[in-house]
Amino acid sequence: MIPLDHLLVRRRQFLDRIPAPVLLFAGGARPRNYPDNPYPDRADSHFLFFFGAAERDAAGLFDPADGTVTLFLSERTVENALWMGPVPGFGEMRDRTGVDRVEAVERLEERVEEIAGGRPIHSVAVADPQVTDRARRITGIPLEFRDPDRIAPIELQDILADLRLHKLEPEVEEIRRAVAVTHDAVAAVMAGSRPGVREHHLVATLEEGFARHGGCPAFETILSVRGEILHNHHHEGTLAEGDLLLLDTGAEIESGYACDVTRTWPATGRFGPEQRAVYEIVLRANETGVAGATVGTRFRYLHLAAARVIAEGLVDLGILRGSPEDLVERGAHALFFPHGLGHFLGLDAHDLESFGDRVLYGEGRARSEQFGTAFLRIDRDLEPGMVVTIEPGIYFVPAILRHPELSARFADCVDFDRAEELLSRNEGRGFGGIRIEDDVRITSDGPEVLTAAIPKGVENVEALVGGGPAGSAAPERS
Ligand code: GLY
Ligand code: MN
Ligand code: MN
Repeated sequence: MIPLDHLLVRRRQFLDRIPAPVLLFAGGARPRNYPDNPYPDRADSHFLFFFGAAERDAAGLFDPADGTVTLFLSERTVENALWMGPVPGFGEMRDRTGVDRVEAVERLEERVEEIAGGRPIHSVAVADPQVTDRARRITGIPLEFRDPDRIAPIELQDILADLRLHKLEPEVEEIRRAVAVTHDAVAAVMAGSRPGVREHHLVATLEEGFARHGGCPAFETILSVRGEILHNHHHEGTLAEGDLLLLDTGAEIESGYACDVTRTWPATGRFGPEQRAVYEIVLRANETGVAGATVGTRFRYLHLAAARVIAEGLVDLGILRGSPEDLVERGAHALFFPHGLGHFLGLDAHDLESFGDRVLYGEGRARSEQFGTAFLRIDRDLEPGMVVTIEPGIYFVPAILRHPELSARFADCVDFDRAEELLSRNEGRGFGGIRIEDDVRITSDGPEVLTAAIPKGVENVEALVGGGPAGSAAPERS
């Protein structure tokens, strides 16, 4: 849990910078099908950042004129107590949260009008469309959750991003907790892996591990022997001899902070020689990215440095031809490493991503138009307090390697016959994909690898795989 004194510091910093009152919403219930059957609550991350936890439908009003914070919560009714259990009263909530006032959210519109007294109100759109509608009506601003230019006034985005991107120790401590939960669960999945185990049993092992600590997946679990499908959310496969299993996951803990880590290992617990060679290239690229995650480094240059390591390795394997510099300049590496090196991490696995490239790239920096590098999610100069992921990979993707235009463009520097050999490996199922992802805190003393304890060296991974109970113990029903 985030300590209250830290939340008070963050609210003070916010109040000192905002030019007008700001109304932040936690968000409400989003129905799965009928209204009384909603998805589990997950409060908006800006709200969590300042309050540490949230009740459904809560809102917080920050008034820079007198430095007060008013928390609006649902009235405590007998019906709610009946169906949902008793909750602390407003007085107790004021003491617990350290706000100046707690009032009924049912009277939000009239109270905000009274407090603002004609001043403009700023707000941030949230994922819950009904709450965003309410924010639009109160502020008169055409807020739109899916549009980075309209999710919040630009000045407010900049203030929120600046605070959230530069993490203070209690926030990093929460990420460390999320990493520890993830570590245990990933280790259990590694130990439970062996040929014959079904992917969804391993997903059960993983997510049970999160639940044991009151956590949940921060994003949909990627666990697949088809690791070349970058965001593969299908778990219908069965591990077989010759398969590589890719697990990209992260626990989100009670405070909302997340981990995001990827490990790849052989189903049998022993890398074949070709698998090991490719794995070691990805590992070198990962280590290059991690070591270079220092203050002042522009993220795009780090991405390109990792890409050169991959290009060099693929030249050594006879898959690419030419100098690594030229290959990366032309974008040939992206046929095998087609995504960006990483992103910000924090309360969201892709932190601040809803604010778009103005925040993620910085003023005046635009996306590359080149295939692969165009998917780079961030391009800021790294600053102390930022937490980023470093997640290079090598994938053998039929849709890319057999793409007529890409094959023609790179005919001189890609050995497509050799690539075909890799696509035919594993009794035609293909080589698959390898990604190794770590979470790194930028400090003035150098990078701090928050996920360092989660094994990634070849011998460490091999020692762990298959050493525990096989997947979930649940019997197969059909
Ligand atoms: N889970 C997607 C990613 O690693 O960014
Ligand atoms: Mn990931
Ligand atoms: Mn990631």
